[in-house]
Amino acid sequence: MFFRVVLLALVALTGMSVQGAEPPVSLTVQVDKPAHKISPYLYGIFFEDINYAADGGVYAELVQNRSFEFKAADALFAWSKVERGGGAVNLSVETDRPLNESNPHFLRLQVQSVGKGAGVANSGFGGIAVKRCEKNLFSVQARADGGFRGGLTAQLESADGKLLGSCRVGPLSSDWKKFTGTIVSSVTDTNARLVVLATGTGTVDLDMVSLFAENTWKKRPNGLRADLVQMLADMKPSFMRFPGGCIVEGKDLDNRYRWKDTIGDVAGRKMNWNRWQDAVAIKAPQYYQSYGLGFYEFFQLCEDIGAEPLPVLNCGMSCQYQDKQVVPIDQLDPFIQDALDLIEFANGPVTGPWGAKRAAMGHPAPFRLKFLGIGNEQWGETYFERYPRFHAAIKAKHPEIQLVSAAGPSPDGQWFDYAWPRLKQIPADLVDEHYYKPPQWFLDNTHRYDNYDRNGPKVFAGEYAAQNRNRRNTLEAALAEAAFMTGLERNSDIVSLASYAPLFAKIGSTQWHPDLIWFDNTRVYGSPSYYVQKLFSLNRGDVVLPAQLSVTNLFGAASRDTRTGDVILKVVNPSAEAAEMSVELEGAAGVSPTAQATVLASVRLSDENSLGEPAKVAPVTATVRGVGREFRQTFKPYSLTILRLNAGRQ
Ligand code: AHR
Repeated sequence: MFFRVVLLALVALTGMSVQGAEPPVSLTVQVDKPAHKISPYLYGIFFEDINYAADGGVYAELVQNRSFEFKAADALFAWSKVERGGGAVNLSVETDRPLNESNPHFLRLQVQSVGKGAGVANSGFGGIAVKRCEKNLFSVQARADGGFRGGLTAQLESADGKLLGSCRVGPLSSDWKKFTGTIVSSVTDTNARLVVLATGTGTVDLDMVSLFAENTWKKRPNGLRADLVQMLADMKPSFMRFPGGCIVEGKDLDNRYRWKDTIGDVAGRKMNWNRWQDAVAIKAPQYYQSYGLGFYEFFQLCEDIGAEPLPVLNCGMSCQYQDKQVVPIDQLDPFIQDALDLIEFANGPVTGPWGAKRAAMGHPAPFRLKFLGIGNEQWGETYFERYPRFHAAIKAKHPEIQLVSAAGPSPDGQWFDYAWPRLKQIPADLVDEHYYKPPQWFLDNTHRYDNYDRNGPKVFAGEYAAQNRNRRNTLEAALAEAAFMTGLERNSDIVSLASYAPLFAKIGSTQWHPDLIWFDNTRVYGSPSYYVQKLFSLNRGDVVLPAQLSVTNLFGAASRDTRTGDVILKVVNPSAEAAEMSVELEGAAGVSPTAQATVLASVRLSDENSLGEPAKVAPVTATVRGVGREFRQTFKPYSLTILRLNAGRQ
């Protein structure tokens, strides 16, 4: 039922030849003998706040360090004092009578004289990008004391101080109050800043200083960048794993991701430092998690793009590469309760405490959570003392939830081998396998799952990427992943879900390469790997068709979309030579003479996309004529081809 090496047999059988001496490559697809169903969840995405994917990335907040919760040394990071034309002000970060307990710090302005301007400026995440005539929504929590009379002027300015637009809010009183205003920019500027000026002398306290372009994804307040979300929506992923990765584990337990800190009013979400601050190679000391993109927003995003949510929770262990902290077994209950509460938050009735919180945030309908991950890349005895406790407690209450368990950080070796027999015994539902390997490994492992035990847990290929020596997002890496994915698809009776990692990377602010989608403050492009993921996802059949390919240097998978009757062939040619192939659709009746071919190819394996050339390696779709039950097709050098043939309904 799988592609097999039957070169000589098939050549002898078909007796065909191409260009004289060379025997043809043949592909035989048994259209009338469909094999197993393809998992409907096979192709998804994995979001982690790494490479500034959230704050400074898809979370559309334009102000950096809006709540002054960065560590003391960086308390005023991204902020600077503004004193113009006789204006005089002192800035300090204070904690007396804060906005709330989760947000203990705020900025105090002691304005001695207003002059032509006294206040603060925020430089955003490497500049604030605004568009001509578009609205920007400003908000701030503020209060005043010491005889202050007046309000605040919030204005957008270019780097050289030119006024682009402004609004006024106030008057301030001695109690915290949220003020909002709208600033329309007169020009497009990718490097503006937000300036907040006091209109009187005295003491002014500011917190949650915020600015969003009105045009977020679906124009949601506290929203996401529309262009970046569109890239995800275009992939039509069937699930989204979130929020990580290593950030779930944390460097230590205190730093772990706590979903309960990420819901409710944004002003009450407790900030955390980002574990990727401490990345081995590229440190980013001011990298934080505001949690403005929190679990509610993740669920909402999943719903928007039609992806099943797959949250991952900490299992009572911090990163085993870093501080290796472990929660004693007799103190594990709150962690298990977090998991049970999350299921209630996602699916529970609005009459329950957690369902009520979901409803209060604007979504009374359940999010229909089906999958839940317990731990990220955990391994060894420590994990297997903890995971079964989560499993038992969750299954007892929610047998409908499919649990994802860890198999360590590698796709083989000591910890992997330790995990699998134990996971079979539990038995686990889905085992999360991770592979970051050279392209050749992916080419060598296209048959990895052919002989996996069909009676054990299913596989979730939760993180993978081909990493070449210089860790670039090249066509070579993308084709290796595509070849590997043909193996996932052929084996999708055992491999239920798969996702590339990491998803996003902000140019100039990365801790990890390669990555799927690259962006700066205004632009975005997909890597060749992005197009591979997208093409596989958009061209799914629902049933595998057995197929035999006569060579081992090409890779492929065949499937059928039983709704449309389409036969879908995915062929990867990673070599420098074009491949002439004779294709036979055995048992197919009424094959249409035209088909659709989508080809991702380029001239060199080292080719990649960039801001300058965002579509250097991008798919091209064309109509192919003269196909039928038997036909010849040329597959370009260095290419992935998706061939959709209409073979009528069988
Ligand atoms: O994807 C980057 C990191 O790789 C993830 O956080 C972690 O799970 C893996 O080690």
